[in-house]
Amino acid sequence: MGTRGLILGIESSCDETAAAVVERGARTLSSVVASQIATHARYGGVVPELASREHLRAIVPVVRAALAEANVTLADLDAIAVTSGPGLAGALLVGITYAKALAYANGLPLIAVNHLEGHIHAVLLNERETERGIENVNSQASNARPGPPGNDVNEKPALALVVSGGHTHLFLARPTASAWTYKLIGRTLDDAAGEAYDKVAKLLGLGYPGGPWIDALALHGNPHAVPFAFSQIKTKIHLAGKAPRTKGAKTAPIANLDPRFLFSFSGIKTAVLRYVELHNLRPEAESRREALFTGPDAPAHPTVEDALAQCDPQTLDLIASFQHAVVGDLMKKTFAAAESLGARRILATGGVAANRSLRARFTAEAARRNLHVAFPTLALSTDNAAMVATAAWPKLQAKEFADPGLSANPSLALGR
Ligand code: KG4
Ligand code: ZN
Repeated sequence: MGTRGLILGIESSCDETAAAVVERGARTLSSVVASQIATHARYGGVVPELASREHLRAIVPVVRAALAEANVTLADLDAIAVTSGPGLAGALLVGITYAKALAYANGLPLIAVNHLEGHIHAVLLNERETERGIENVNSQASNARPGPPGNDVNEKPALALVVSGGHTHLFLARPTASAWTYKLIGRTLDDAAGEAYDKVAKLLGLGYPGGPWIDALALHGNPHAVPFAFSQIKTKIHLAGKAPRTKGAKTAPIANLDPRFLFSFSGIKTAVLRYVELHNLRPEAESRREALFTGPDAPAHPTVEDALAQCDPQTLDLIASFQHAVVGDLMKKTFAAAESLGARRILATGGVAANRSLRARFTAEAARRNLHVAFPTLALSTDNAAMVATAAWPKLQAKEFADPGLSANPSLALGR
């Protein structure tokens, strides 16, 4: 067992097999991500059976690469951390089983991490790495020693928006002496924001995952061309319709949440579909898909310029308007929640937080309201294992270890 506060993180909840070594929740020694995008792209979404198979293939080389890049051996580690949920059951199990075996064989403690908590800690890791960069410059000048990294106790509560392909959640995140605690403030009632991006991109004949395509193409359209609107969500009405298919554990928190902080993205997806039908844009979307991905002359690696050449102004306006509406809704509710809870700091994280428009609009709105907003680096926004190792650091200090019987929990909740 090591003494440097080194945690090996393992992540396999969806379509990325990742491993990373992070020192004291504050310094990334390595972060390796094997993406399965190529496997799932032709289906326009993640195929769970294929995901498990790909994780099985990738897990050993990815972990080896993470240790080698960090220049450490298993004997140098203090703990192994693994995502235990939420996510795809079979995919999660690959990471969990391997992490358990590795921990047991090497006499290391095993730490279970909630994937959503991981995304939140990606922002904290980035903040610490950036701050330490600044501190190191100062300490070189003054010979002062920087403080211990990853010391959360003085950090203030923050409102965290976790927005990805599987989640759109708002949490109030508070550091305590031993760990972070979370209170669920809002969430989506149906699709996640990233899911809406992926479905709209698929409908328009663009690639998978859809977010990066829409992000890039939206720059070329008029965001005010199509006035998409989000209506006020009424919890009781929604629950009346949804209760029979919603699990008890999930229904209760929704009923207790303030409807102002609930999201719903299935409506805008349908509105885009209606727009496409009404303006007869489907045949064009089909030929776009063929030209870019499925046709005999499709380029091996289509670029944004290739896609741009296949998009008429009306489609670009539709894309820009869709993005403007989604980002606007995320922004409105996140800032309203921060204001209502008195949180001065917003952490925006998850794949959709990589979006350029989201970053620009959140940053401008935070400046306007005199709040602080932080994002992970682009690489830490999407799924990775450095965030898992970082979230595990306070748990290692608190000796909060996983049960030997740890199993995958596909619908693991964070906070109450
Ligand atoms: O966090 P992540 O890698 O995996 C999940 O936990 O879901 O997020 C993936 C999601 C996908 O839906 C993808 O389309 C979206 O994040 N995404 C983006 C961008 N980059 C990835 N959405 C909007 N703009 C982006 N630049
Ligand atoms: Zn994720």
